[in-house]
Amino acid sequence: MRYLITSALPYINGIKHLGNLVGSMLPADVYARFLRQEGETVLFICGTDEHGTPAELAALEEGLDVADYCQQQYERQAEIYKRFGLSFDYFGRTSSQENHELTQHFYQCLDENGFIKEQEISQMYSLEDERFLPDRYIIGTCPNCGYQSARGDQCENCTSVLNPTDLIQPRSTISESNNLEVRQSKHLFLELNLLSNKVESWVEEHPDWSSLTKSIAKKWLNEGLQKRCITRDLSWGIPVPRPGFESKVFYVWFDAPIGYLAMTKAWSDRAEERNWLDWWHELEDVQYVQFMAKDNLPFHTIMFPAMTLGTRKPWKLADQIKGFNWLNYYGGKFSTSSKRGVFLDQALDILPSDCWRYTLLAISPESSDSSFTWEQLQTKINKDLADKLGNLINRILKFAASRFDSKIPMGGVPGEAEQQLEAQCKKLMDTICQCLHSLEFRKATNALCALWTIGNQYIDEQAPWKLFKENPEQAAMVIRTSINLIRIYAIASYPFIPSTAQQIFDTLHLSESERTSSFGSAVDFSILQPNRSFDVPAPLFQKLDDEQVARLKSRFGGE
Ligand code: MF3
Ligand code: ZN
Repeated sequence: MRYLITSALPYINGIKHLGNLVGSMLPADVYARFLRQEGETVLFICGTDEHGTPAELAALEEGLDVADYCQQQYERQAEIYKRFGLSFDYFGRTSSQENHELTQHFYQCLDENGFIKEQEISQMYSLEDERFLPDRYIIGTCPNCGYQSARGDQCENCTSVLNPTDLIQPRSTISESNNLEVRQSKHLFLELNLLSNKVESWVEEHPDWSSLTKSIAKKWLNEGLQKRCITRDLSWGIPVPRPGFESKVFYVWFDAPIGYLAMTKAWSDRAEERNWLDWWHELEDVQYVQFMAKDNLPFHTIMFPAMTLGTRKPWKLADQIKGFNWLNYYGGKFSTSSKRGVFLDQALDILPSDCWRYTLLAISPESSDSSFTWEQLQTKINKDLADKLGNLINRILKFAASRFDSKIPMGGVPGEAEQQLEAQCKKLMDTICQCLHSLEFRKATNALCALWTIGNQYIDEQAPWKLFKENPEQAAMVIRTSINLIRIYAIASYPFIPSTAQQIFDTLHLSESERTSSFGSAVDFSILQPNRSFDVPAPLFQKLDDEQVARLKSRFGGE
């Protein structure tokens, strides 16, 4: 079995926040790292989603040409993900040549197969801005409640659903101009209604999806699929290859998921031995797993599969779709548009990536929405990472360095306590492994912490520092056991906190093969034999004190 893993493509308009990270890219990375460690063949693809009005407007705001803006933001995002340790095999762009070609190809297949319909629609045109305005770029007075800044799609005040033409005194949010008129223009629609049965049978083939994923897919199917407009009056995007559509591009949600394929193609074009069709043609031995936040589920369970099935080409569809709920920030949502919460560049200025990775995974919004708080971050870092993992490693290695001449000591006989430790380790390693296979990241992270806990209990009970005076041979055995335990910790921790795991591997002077063990064979207390050398690392984690937490809370407005 080979694994194709994709994370929802982060939108290009600015640095993402912690909620975006935990809701797709981070768990996808843990999964990819875990599977590689298990010896599986993995292809992990992600990239920026670059088209659509928000990209155009963000560029406008920065006074940049939209292509230049996207180039800049692409580089910034790619750099930040690297610093978070996200191990993409390829991080691409939906504005690439490959995606232009594939998107047009998808469209042509859909058109040949009779799933595309042309239809005239009325839209608001702004004479001042010289463009059609999408619904949410028009504001005006709500006809129901009189709220003066109601958006063209919905009134925020009374929640009534609106059409831009319902608004009293409508105006453009771009220029504030009220010089608007209704114009007719031709658009293309994807006839989802004709593809509904196909999508439904595909959904039925996957009883193993989570209830979140299944319920969203079924809700849409039960409500009946409607045809959906797949073109927009914009200049930035993928041109529509059809006479009369010269000034239009495809809707961003049409080309974005095709980006998964196009990015694989771009990856494949970079080396002779790679063949992207080996991953995307319906092959039995590829397991395709997608990661995303719940607002993306309708597109991935309905719209993208419908587009794909409608081509009548043997493209691979997702086998597993992992959806996440929302991570809240003090009761409200993290939000890019209202700059609420912690953004990834800020996060890395505050703490090393592994502190964020571990905390976010431990509170990941899997079965329901969850909340980020600074206190929780403090607890996770201080109690779990610093006390249970970092401190244990330091205590053991420091003691071994001073009492045993910086070599793994010889002598002593393992007894019942060691047998018990081994059994507990095996059980927890098994739990982590199973949780990761079944995409339960929060549970897996808790089991990892439990694994750290049992080591602390073992050392507290054996107290090698005391034992050393009475029975140095036995103390040597406890230390040797503990150093082997540290290796097991590094292997277990690797998918979650990879840079710390690397540090531990280095500290223990492990060879390449000693670093790469599957979970199933990692629990072996005889790998690190007497006389091997190691280093004593600097403390692996700095604690967050109350004063720092108070400062962070006031800086980011966490109340
Ligand atoms: N850019 C979208 C978002 O941030 C996700 C796109 S996923 C893709 O919600 F499949 F369309 F690429
Ligand atoms: Zn209203």
